[in-house]
Amino acid sequence: MRSRDDQTERLAADFTRAQTEPRSDYYLAIANCDDLLIGFVRIGFGRDRSGELGYAVRFADWGRGYASEAAALMIQFGLDTLRLHRIQAACGPDNYASQRLLARLRFVPEGRIRDHVFTNDAWRDSLLYSVLEHEWRSEVVRARN
Ligand SMILES: CC(C)(COP(=O)(O)OP(=O)(O)OC[C@H]1O[C@@H](n2cnc3c(N)ncnc32)[C@H](O)[C@@H]1OP(=O)(O)O)[C@@H](O)C(=O)NCCC(=O)NCCS
Repeated sequence: MRSRDDQTERLAADFTRAQTEPRSDYYLAIANCDDLLIGFVRIGFGRDRSGELGYAVRFADWGRGYASEAAALMIQFGLDTLRLHRIQAACGPDNYASQRLLARLRFVPEGRIRDHVFTNDAWRDSLLYSVLEHEWRSEVVRARN
């Protein structure tokens, strides 16, 4: 868990980045019905109209559909407004909640990235997923019919 100071510093950096042009990423805040900030979804820009999706919801609110709803909105924004062609996401092999979220969002598994991140004093693999513009749009049409 991050300290309050560390989190304050990170938030300040997020706000600074949000005011620079061209932008390197976009955040969507997730609030509950009491207007309390409980999570976020982020899209960071990659090369050639690609984006990387990231997200977190506070533990007490897991399993209530917050990430599914917010991530779907962010993907729609990424494709329609930011004109992305590909959106990818990476998650830990033991992160079943994230894998289920990506499956629900119709992301396609692409494989395992070895020693992708260094966290908690160790190199860790990630599973890579992506959704392409035409795949997302055909899913949206299918869901409507
Ligand atoms: C991943 C995360 C954002 C999901 O948020 P959420 O608001 O609980 O997600 P939703 O309620 O929209 O549910 C999405 C899917 O995750 C599943 N899920 C939620 N919590 C779960 C848990 N603890 N264990 C297993 N699956 C879980 C839901 O059942 C749902 O799957 P389904 O569609 O097959 O039913 C949340 O678990 C989290 O913040 N984790 C820590 C941060 C993190 O891992 N971020 C991603 C880094 S790659």
